[in-house]
Amino acid sequence: MKQYLSENSEKILEELFTILRVPSISADSSCKNEVNLCAEAVAKLLEKAGMDKTEVIRTAGHPVVYSEKIVDLKLPTVLVYGHYDVQPVDPLNLWETPPFEPVIRDDQIFARGASDDKGQLFIQIKSIAYMLHKDMLPCNVKFIAEGEEEVGSINLGKFLRDHKDRLAADIVLVSDTGMISLEAPSIMIGLRGLSYVEIEMTGPNRDLHSGLYGGAVANPAQVLCSIIASLIDENGKVTIPGFYDDVQELPDSLRSQLAQAPFDLELYKQKLDLREVAGEKGYSVMERVGIRPSLDVNGLWSGYIGEGAKTVLPAKAAAKVSMRLVPNQSSEKITESFIDHITAIAPKTVRLKTIVHHGGEPWCIQTDVSAYIAASQAVKEVFGKEPVPVRGGGSIPIVALFEAELGLKTILLGFGLDSDAIHSPNEHFGVSNLFKGIETVPLFYKYFAESQ
Ligand code: BES
Ligand code: MN
Ligand code: MN
Repeated sequence: MKQYLSENSEKILEELFTILRVPSISADSSCKNEVNLCAEAVAKLLEKAGMDKTEVIRTAGHPVVYSEKIVDLKLPTVLVYGHYDVQPVDPLNLWETPPFEPVIRDDQIFARGASDDKGQLFIQIKSIAYMLHKDMLPCNVKFIAEGEEEVGSINLGKFLRDHKDRLAADIVLVSDTGMISLEAPSIMIGLRGLSYVEIEMTGPNRDLHSGLYGGAVANPAQVLCSIIASLIDENGKVTIPGFYDDVQELPDSLRSQLAQAPFDLELYKQKLDLREVAGEKGYSVMERVGIRPSLDVNGLWSGYIGEGAKTVLPAKAAAKVSMRLVPNQSSEKITESFIDHITAIAPKTVRLKTIVHHGGEPWCIQTDVSAYIAASQAVKEVFGKEPVPVRGGGSIPIVALFEAELGLKTILLGFGLDSDAIHSPNEHFGVSNLFKGIETVPLFYKYFAESQ
């Protein structure tokens, strides 16, 4: 395998670059054509890999690439999932090289999507190509690559329902997460869910002179800020009534198992230029992002922010608020509690409007399922160390739906690093992460097939 990779490394990287060059920004409607082109480019790689049949299937939004290789109906079937869409690239001026012109610097592939998720999707494709080339694919493969993950996978739930029979499988395999480091491999056993609400507050019917009206008319910017400030208390707890009601408290045994993951607080602060971390009392940093829910303002705007001073009492203020959820919280329920709470505490001096954005359910998996053990064996063989299980803080909305709609468990075999700068300028992915990924995935297939 190592020899195959080193002999073909240039060719492999160039293949990955063909998809990295396509600006498939799902959130940007002016990129619709490029998103389609990227789906075609992914389909081409799957055909080249030797899959039986590959289709680009239209949805109400961006297309899904579907592909399969049925080796023998008696063999277990792996359903691979990944996404070929990417996040917007702004601020563009902070990129050292253009986001859609992939280059290698310091053994890192720099491009939007290099790590999230084109590089990791490519690991899956290349692994299949390798196994087919060597005639050693021990499972049937079904493959879906979607183009809407970064906008909440809004049409993929319906796709799963509509194609239930076709997607029948034994396990879902996803490379769209990370590990602690190449020296400290880990496997994610949880993802947080998401509730996302935009709130808009209107005071007077126009922007006012702050001298003529200031002091007598409520300022929506200040009302909004005080409401937002009240959402987290002095112990770092979210104050929305019922917010923690359904949160699964972990047994001490699981908490101490998760605490085995190496974590260096000083290094963490240093890397982020922080003097101090924050969060819910009684929980470690890893727990605050992994097993506890959180609430964040993602954007906040009101009033005059141009050059110089303008004496204005703004008519409107607005904020985008996201909440990350943990097992057993329900995205719909939390969204409702959030809106009820804001409505209850908003004073009569302002009018309130809320807009609900996409959400997703939290998810987790136990470490004693056979597919997790197979993944753990594969990682250990390539990285030389048993991977530690980690609860991740991010979200991949479709993963909970694989279980709910298709009854399937998911293995998150991710090879990214927190330092990859996903969603940020200068996103990158290690060449070693890429190649080690391609070494690991075929071993997962092998051990998974043996365990069935
Ligand atoms: N691949 C990420 C999620 C991720 C990254 C999970 C690293 C764990 C470790 C995914 O593409 C992502 O960015 N998800 C979004 C949610 C989506 C609804 C926009 C997120 O977590 O914000
Ligand atoms: Mn992703
Ligand atoms: Mn992402």
